Amino acid sequence: MSARGLFISIEGGEGAGKSTVIAALREALQAEGREVVLTREPGGTPEGEAIRALLLDPGSDLAPETELLLMFAARAQLVRRLILPSLARGAVVISDRFTDASYAYQGGGRGMDMGRIAELERWAAGIRPDLTLLLDVGVSQGLARARARGGEPDRIEREREDFFQRVRDTYLARAAAEPDRFRVVDAGRPPGEVRAAVLTALAQWRGR
Ligand SMILES: Nc1ncnc2c1ncn2[C@@H]1O[C@H](COP(=O)(O)OP(=O)(O)OP(=O)(O)O)[C@@H](O)[C@H]1O
Ligand SMILES: [Mg+2]
Repeated sequence: MSARGLFISIEGGEGAGKSTVIAALREALQAEGREVVLTREPGGTPEGEAIRALLLDPGSDLAPETELLLMFAARAQLVRRLILPSLARGAVVISDRFTDASYAYQGGGRGMDMGRIAELERWAAGIRPDLTLLLDVGVSQGLARARARGGEPDRIEREREDFFQRVRDTYLARAAAEPDRFRVVDAGRPPGEVRAAVLTALAQWRGR
């Protein structure tokens, strides 16, 4: 084993249960004595959280190009200021979304060129997660959960259902193209079952 830690990203659409699952993963990994660093995108650093506020403000009139670049600006900061130093210490970093979300939302959802996103990924992100857990749930089921949680929908949550369908399709296509990095979990089940499936997927991935 190298001194490098483990980088896990959690992906999925609105209301897939990402935040819920991350709490379970943290608990399981801490019980092994690992240092666990949780972060989220966009955001995760003070500068990135300021960019997040701009991205999610329903009053922001962002061109798709601006949205994409702001996502990567926050990510560039997150990688260099938090993720890489944490991995160098040997920590497990769990990120609520990472670059796959740009392919899904800005690529699939908004129709931005995938090649451009790949270029940004290479130089602005520069790293990929070791493991990506994709929580897959039907669009209307996920949106219903997110709405039931209450609160005002942010700028991206205000998109139409067909936008989220393209997001889901893009995530699933990426998972199929990179089966070694991705594990897809059926997140349409009750929380206890999703949690168990996620922990099984992690154990199975480690023993692969
Ligand atoms: N498997 C599940 N079955 C039913 N409800 C769930 C399940 N998982 C999470 N929930 C509930 O659905 C809502 C959304 O879950 P959560 O916040 O974990 O999703 P999320 O993927 O983090 O959403 P967002 O993209 O908005 O951050 C919460 O109220 C949560 O309690
Ligand atoms: Mg969440």
